[in-house]
Amino acid sequence: MPRLEQARAWYREDDAVHGFGHIRRVHALCGEIGRAEGADMDILLAAALLHDAQGSHPGENSRDDHHLRSAQFAGKVLAGMGWAEERILAVQHCIRAHRFRDEEQPHTLEAQVLFDADKLDVIGAVGVVRALAYALQISQPVFAEPSARFLQTGQKEPGEPHSAYHEYLFKLKKISSVLITPAARRMAASRQAFLDDFFDELAAEMRGSESMPSI
Ligand SMILES: [Fe+2]
Ligand SMILES: [Fe+2]
Repeated sequence: MPRLEQARAWYREDDAVHGFGHIRRVHALCGEIGRAEGADMDILLAAALLHDAQGSHPGENSRDDHHLRSAQFAGKVLAGMGWAEERILAVQHCIRAHRFRDEEQPHTLEAQVLFDADKLDVIGAVGVVRALAYALQISQPVFAEPSARFLQTGQKEPGEPHSAYHEYLFKLKKISSVLITPAARRMAASRQAFLDDFFDELAAEMRGSESMPSI
């Protein structure tokens, strides 16, 4: 069974978005939600520790296949620890199905708990910090006015930035409604409200500043 301390070697400490801090929080959330929901804790916690291990770090070309690469990496790590094939496959399903924008849906309880725990970490005060940190990592502004096209379809106009506010409208605003397990849904309500308040306030202040005389 991989341990939290072992996972430290697979993640960066200095990445505020997908670094070891994210893994420690998702591991703790999986512990809480998984016990409340009756999940297989070995499968769930191994998946929590390994779910972003490959392809998530700043400077890598694209995060698009990080769930697939992390699932492969998990297979090697767990096989090296003598895990049975069937349990490795169960962990790999959790990892492949943890993304918000993906085809493989979480169909086991353990995959649903990991999905929920990972999403709880993008809302609340931590969610604010991560959204802003990610925008800075990818050299995008914290706020840009979304186009009418983006608001209607989620597609940006040519040259339109993908600001943290765009990410909020596109993804973060809906998080509490996509969570699956009752335990996670209970935990999400206050975090979602905090995140919504932050981005509403940010947009109001940014829009207000455009009409203010410069000082
Ligand atoms: Fe991920
Ligand atoms: Fe994650």
